[in-house]
Amino acid sequence: MSLKILSVKKSVPQKIVSNEDLAKFLDTNDQWISSRTGIKNRHICTSESLVDLCEDAVKKAVEQAGIAFSDIDLVICSTLCGDYLMPSLACCVCERIKISCPAFDINAACSGFIYALDIADGYISTGKANNILIISAEMMSKLVDWTDRTTCVLFGDGAAACIVTKGNAIRYLKLTAKGDTNLLSFPVGTGNSPYKETRSNGFVNMQGQEVFKFAVFMIESQSKLAFEKLNITADDIDYFVLHQANKRIIESARTRLKQPEEKFPINIQNYGNISSVTIPLLLDEMLEDGRIKKGTRLFLSAFGAGLTTGTCVMIWE
Ligand code: COA
Repeated sequence: MSLKILSVKKSVPQKIVSNEDLAKFLDTNDQWISSRTGIKNRHICTSESLVDLCEDAVKKAVEQAGIAFSDIDLVICSTLCGDYLMPSLACCVCERIKISCPAFDINAACSGFIYALDIADGYISTGKANNILIISAEMMSKLVDWTDRTTCVLFGDGAAACIVTKGNAIRYLKLTAKGDTNLLSFPVGTGNSPYKETRSNGFVNMQGQEVFKFAVFMIESQSKLAFEKLNITADDIDYFVLHQANKRIIESARTRLKQPEEKFPINIQNYGNISSVTIPLLLDEMLEDGRIKKGTRLFLSAFGAGLTTGTCVMIWE
């Protein structure tokens, strides 16, 4: 592998929605949501567009990396759905920050950040790019059904941007995709074609318990593969930076890996599940508070619709 992360910065919308706020219009309560998921609050877009959040995160990430906008030679944006289906969110960002370079979106659902790292690695290792801007940006609030208490309480909005360049931080990276549209999906609306025979509901559909089991199984089995390949054990990892979808999923993975709580950072209580944003957002917070520094050994693991997974071991440079 051939890259390192130079900087990571987050941007979340101003409005914070608590579990109590949701209980004002849904048949739910703080006790149920926090005990089943660990979530207390989430940030939800009001006036902000996704590109607004991206612009804010990108400006901070570029400044922290100490490069100029003009040094960016590729933009990869991981999103389930940008502000437009076309142009891509990556192109909207190029317009905002006035750069002109290849730019495209990818959708690997909640595993998107790790998929983007793998794509960036390909570009860097073949010499096709030097400084790549990876953005994860999600507005889950426009995808969920706000009358469905089983899904809308779980998600939040936000973005995170990072600059990656040539380096040796990533020691292992593996992606998987099962091929499944049953457990977690969002069917795109069918438009107004007079010929289309079926209509979709256009909201997130999820079989929560099945997704839960898939997540725990995959984190454990993929970590075993990674550790075998690198000839290390879970004890050699400083932090397990897992996709923040449910605190109980993280806890189950931790128990199976027989590791102490402090090695599994959790911030889901403040943000909910922001799909592909959760891992870079957590990295930003861990860099800010000093938990990540040069030499810190990280295990990243994400899972999401598809069903996709991404697993990565890196030593921070
Ligand atoms: N408030 C109150 N009650 C709720 C509720 C809510 N927000 N959502 C569901 N319930 C009810 C259900 O209707 C059900 O009631 P019933 O027993 O009368 O039928 C009961 O709570 C239990 O529901 P269940 O779905 O069995 O709960 P659970 O313990 O499996 O937790 C999830 C549900 C969604 C929190 C959990 O399955 C989960 O997190 N799965 C993983 C989802 C995920 O990570 N998705 C993203 C992947 S990237």
